[in-house]
Amino acid sequence: MDGDKKKYFRQLEDLYGDEIFLSLNNNAEKFPTGLIKKDDPNRLSIFKDKIKNCLKCDLGNLRKNFVFGSGDPNASLLIIGEAPGEQEDLSGEPFVGRAGKLLDKMLLAINRSRNNDVFICNVLKCRPPENRDPKKEEIDECEPYLINQIDLIQPKLIVALGRIAGKTLLGVEKSLKEMRGVLHKYHSRSLIVTYHPAALLRNPNWKHGAWEDFKLIQKLLD
Ligand code: URA
Repeated sequence: MDGDKKKYFRQLEDLYGDEIFLSLNNNAEKFPTGLIKKDDPNRLSIFKDKIKNCLKCDLGNLRKNFVFGSGDPNASLLIIGEAPGEQEDLSGEPFVGRAGKLLDKMLLAINRSRNNDVFICNVLKCRPPENRDPKKEEIDECEPYLINQIDLIQPKLIVALGRIAGKTLLGVEKSLKEMRGVLHKYHSRSLIVTYHPAALLRNPNWKHGAWEDFKLIQKLLD
């Protein structure tokens, strides 16, 4: 059996023990959330309980908390950052630091909040030491969780915050400038890329461009 197949069956085993679940839906076959009912109001917390003790990469041994993500399980807007920082690792919640406060303001400007039609999470669920960029092997282990989350939330639009989240999800080596303002696809869902709020704190001149992106987000959601 080749490496990818082994990895797939290992993931199945982690999630569901020795039961094999076969689905007619290709996406669900590759990233199984099959035994969790799509209309179960607790589906995200059930999934979180399945994966929160993950030790598939070294970050699992370093974390204080697994940062699954939080918000509205029926959200039409899914916001995806890069990875938890120090505050997020301590609290177990995504985007709780200064960048998170700015993100809250940006969401308010499009009449939303983190519990109202929005779910927020990250590509990586555990903090990389010193907030370094995620490594390929960490992304390879963690991204299936994100795809499962998308499968359970079924958002209308995904917004990737910052170059790292954008290029990771799109699988391209591009600048933020090249990725912004374009409607991309990620696992059959519409995706746009905008500035990371931490970058906006460092460069307030970029806020105008971010506001343009948020107007586009609002238009795509309406
Ligand atoms: N930066 C991120 O990308 N994610 C967080 O949760 C916090 C800061």
